[in-house]
Amino acid sequence: MTDDTAAGPPTSETPTPPDGYVGDPDVRAEWDATYADREQMWSGGPNGALVAEVAGLAPGRVLDVGCGEGADAVWLAGRGWDVTALEVSGVALERAAAHARDAGVAVRWVHAGLVEAHLAPASFDLVSAQYPALLRTPDAAAERALLAAVAPGGVLLLVHHAGMDTHEVPDGGFDPADYVWPSMVAALLDDDWDVETDEQRPRPAPEGGAGAHHTHDVVVRARRLR
Ligand SMILES: C[S@@+](CC[C@H](N)C(=O)[O-])C[C@H]1O[C@@H](n2cnc3c(N)ncnc32)[C@H](O)[C@@H]1O
Repeated sequence: MTDDTAAGPPTSETPTPPDGYVGDPDVRAEWDATYADREQMWSGGPNGALVAEVAGLAPGRVLDVGCGEGADAVWLAGRGWDVTALEVSGVALERAAAHARDAGVAVRWVHAGLVEAHLAPASFDLVSAQYPALLRTPDAAAERALLAAVAPGGVLLLVHHAGMDTHEVPDGGFDPADYVWPSMVAALLDDDWDVETDEQRPRPAPEGGAGAHHTHDVVVRARRLR
């Protein structure tokens, strides 16, 4: 579900994304609490891997999965992309919408979980998921939702912190087994896809933010052939 209205696509002029959330309330509550803990969570700048990978692409329809505070969405919109940005945290989305207003760009905000959003299939020229925190399920629903959103000829760009898939935090902290990692998505890429990149590489350092200590990315970039 989106914050679309009969008057047309919602934009960053929408003061606050209305509460039409579709998704797991626990996931939303957890991320809202995480964001509420700090005035600003991330650096405020676009992710380096996104900037590098988008350089050779013509702007089209892009889906930003787990857009957080909206830095990538705003950056893409400023470069001519038609941006749909999806996020479970309303706290983050409010910051993202304010960021877009300040930048004077239009973004379509979707307050939903990726799977529960039931996006129109094959409707994006680029699906970008930067450090997504997608919960793993036996039916690989999140992985399949990422792939299904990409239009024929379009690109899936999935970026994560290297080593996170094996990095356990004991005592009830982060368990990597609970989450979707790029290798799991890559494993589903069949003959309909051309894997353009599947590698680990140094991460352009962001200017601050909670994840600034991560030094390397895993980057999977695949083009949907049909
Ligand atoms: C590590 S943060 C990355 C945020 C942003 N992509 C960035 O690079 O700054 C992961 C984001 O995924 C969001 N998220 C968690 N579960 C989600 C889901 N099921 N669907 C969409 N977004 C989700 C979180 O709220 C959080 O903003």
